[in-house]
This record gives sequence, C-alpha cells and structure tokens, in this order.
Amino acid sequence: MTFKGRDFIEITSFKRSEIEYLFKIADKLEPVARKGSDILKGRILACLFFEPSTRTRLSFEAAMLRLGGDVIGFAEPAVSSIAKGESLADTVRVVENYADIIVLRHPLEGAAKLAAEFSSIPVINAGSGSLSHPTQALLDLYTIYREKGKIDGLKIALIGDLKYGRTVHSLAYALSYYDVKLSLISPPQLKMRREILEDLRRSGVKILENESLQDVIETSDVIYVTRIQKERFPDPTEYERVKGSYKLTFDMLSNCKKDLIILHPLPRVGELDPKIDSTRHAKYFKQTYYGLLVRMALLASILGAI
Ligand code: NCD
Repeated sequence: MTFKGRDFIEITSFKRSEIEYLFKIADKLEPVARKGSDILKGRILACLFFEPSTRTRLSFEAAMLRLGGDVIGFAEPAVSSIAKGESLADTVRVVENYADIIVLRHPLEGAAKLAAEFSSIPVINAGSGSLSHPTQALLDLYTIYREKGKIDGLKIALIGDLKYGRTVHSLAYALSYYDVKLSLISPPQLKMRREILEDLRRSGVKILENESLQDVIETSDVIYVTRIQKERFPDPTEYERVKGSYKLTFDMLSNCKKDLIILHPLPRVGELDPKIDSTRHAKYFKQTYYGLLVRMALLASILGAI
C-alpha cells in the first residue's frame, strides 16, 4: 500500500483498507501531536485558501509544523495574484516550484481536480465548493472509530444542510464503505443530492428516511449536525426561508442512548445548543483534535516519510 505522491481529491480516491491504514498511522503519530518530530524536515506545504477557514487550514499547518516541515501560502485570495486575475492553473504551476505538496480550498466544485491535473506535486482537496471535503470525512470517520471503537453496525444520523454541505457529501461516501444505517434529516429544501443518494443505495447503504427527529435522537449511535451553508444559496430569500429551521437542544437528548456521540464539522451558528457542550455526548471539539492526527498521517504518507 503506497500513498507516496498521490493526490487526495475525493474520499473515494482511497479504498477502505487504505483509509484504515491511515488511521493506524494517525494512532502512531499521536505523541508527535504534542512533542513534535523531524519526520518532514526540509519539506514545504503550500496552503492555498480561496475561502474562509479556521480548523482545516490551521490543523494542516499545525500538522506540517509538528512533523518538522514548513508552511507557506495564503488564507485569502485578495493578498495573492489571484486579485490581479491570475488563473488557478497558473497559480498551481508557480507554487509547485516552491513546495512539495499543496492543500487547496476553493469555492468551485471542480477546483481541486483541476489543480491536480496541472500540478506536478500532490494536491489535497481541503474543500471544493459544496461538492466535497474529503479530509473532513477522514477525520469524521476517525473520530467515530476512536470514540466508538468501530464503524460497522452503527446507526448514524446526518442532520441539517445535506444539499450544500460538502462535509456530509464526503462523509456519506466514506460511510458507504461500511455496514451502517444512515438517517438523513433535513428541511425539504435541503435534502441530500439525488445523485449521491443513488450512489449510496447502489453501494448497499441502508438509508432510513421519513423518521422524526425525536426517533432519530433516541435510536442513533452517532448524530452529525451541520450548519446551513448560507454562502452557497443562489437566492438569499431561499436562505431566509430555511434559516433557524432546526436546532439540536439539550432537552431533546433526554431519551438518547447513553453512549450517543454528537459530531459537528464546525463552525456552528445556532443549530447546536452550547448547553450540550458539557455532556458526555459532545465530541465536536475532540473531533478537531483528531483532525490534526489524521492530517499528520496524510501529509507524512503522501510525502513518503512513513
Ligand atoms: C466545513 C466546511 O468548510 O465545509 N468546515 C470545516 O472545514 N470544518 C463546514 C462548514 O463550513 O459549515
């Protein structure tokens, strides 16, 4: 199994066995998350972020620094030559001379794929429009594996903006590698994209629809809540209609399973009650820590250091 030199554009770029191998590497790298190492000394990561980010960019940067490497890049296109009209293809062909690997976030759905086509160094997709966010799916899956000890056999609910949310798209594909029951709960306007549903069904995932939110809360092992993706709505009035239409509150958890875990890719903006934070169910901050481990594993593997 080799990851050296590979791009990571979609979660389906890696097989289940490869994902689980990465998890083993993430487990092994845990001490490095605190103490650091020089595994990637002399290597450079370029973070090209054309959209806002806190966790994804900072955890990739922290991962590279903890592994002994260096980081260059920009956190907003306004400070780069993109502001002068430079194309993504040209940007990539320049940056490949300065770095060993690129992490790219971009508002266009096909951006990461296009960048990988032009780049001679590996490209990792850190979010392509509303289409996909495969490294988030890796860390979501890793969080479930660490917190529940398994993924097969679980009942998992995805709640919120299943239409524009890129994290749930990639996570749904990742979960299709496993024997899980998937509940999809969203306002009618924000249902899971049809082509993704068809792919999931084809791969044998059991999808439970039309359940009430209360039933889902009582029977789930994992609840994954998402933010309504305001910035992706073509029409602001459409957003006004759905905004605030769902919220997971502390009181709703009174009959949930004792070992239910609640995840959220963050940021949250009202759909997840902060009163839940102090319960044993809240794993969304731990999830951000697991993200660091998974991203260390990914960088070290693709750069051929492991
Ligand atoms: C997500 C994203 O950017 O898609 N954030 C993240 O990477 N953790 C989710 C979101 O913005 O709602």
